[in-house]
Amino acid sequence: MRFSSARAGYRGGMDYDFTTLPWGDAYKLIVGSVVPRPIGWISTLGPTGTPNLAPYSFFNAVCANPPMLMFAPVRLEGGRKKDSLANVERTREFVANIVTEEALPPMDASSAEVAEDVDEFELAGLTAVSSVVVKAPRVGEAPIHFECVLEHIVALGDGSEGAGELVIGRIVHADVAERVLRDGKVQPDLLHPVGRMGGPTYARPELLEFERKPQPDRRGSSCADVKVPCGRSRRIFGRTEER
Ligand SMILES: Cc1cc2nc3c(=O)[nH]c(=O)nc-3n(C[C@H](O)[C@H](O)[C@H](O)COP(=O)(O)O)c2cc1C
Repeated sequence: MRFSSARAGYRGGMDYDFTTLPWGDAYKLIVGSVVPRPIGWISTLGPTGTPNLAPYSFFNAVCANPPMLMFAPVRLEGGRKKDSLANVERTREFVANIVTEEALPPMDASSAEVAEDVDEFELAGLTAVSSVVVKAPRVGEAPIHFECVLEHIVALGDGSEGAGELVIGRIVHADVAERVLRDGKVQPDLLHPVGRMGGPTYARPELLEFERKPQPDRRGSSCADVKVPCGRSRRIFGRTEER
């Protein structure tokens, strides 16, 4: 990957002046570095009631109280809005369906840039199922659905190509399939979540068990008895002792 505003030799790597870097190059560097990204499969209703579906990896959970999710559609050439954004602006609601490994082929099919009257559920061979609270349908094949009502749209950039909008939705209803639950909790080994890497690659999680260190309390008491199960060192008040 070559970038026009990159300078070689910076601590043996490259440094980039983001004030002059063309947005397409900045985009490549960001999506190759901020990885893996969760994928929200966003369903909305089009202007004539046609279901719309598209994956968004600028997607995350952003608030617990009230519970909120976000996704960020990037503007197309000429500053044209993607259908998901136009639909949320009009209907003020959407569903974030969780993408699993099994769903990669239909998820990819649903990312096609098609006219707003094309039903992307049909295009991708998926089942549009009625939601409980919102009018937008959910993906029957997805194990988790978060039904959201629009809370905020934050404009990012000047509305030209590559600019975007941060769409924040408040979750009003969620449902979770029995098949991904054990002991009442969503289990990654049953969910098979995937994340987006740079380009056409995806990642599945390799779980690492990491025992959190007890934090020193606010009065500054000791955390000297810390056990780090898989580390080669233990840390006492910032000093590292080799084992
Ligand atoms: C895995 C994946 C993640 C994507 N993430 C985004 C994203 O975060 N933002 C974006 O604007 N487009 C993203 N896209 C592209 C959109 O899915 C694509 O432009 C789609 O046609 C938009 O559909 P819509 O016009 O129905 O909203 C992604 C595509 C894929 C395959």
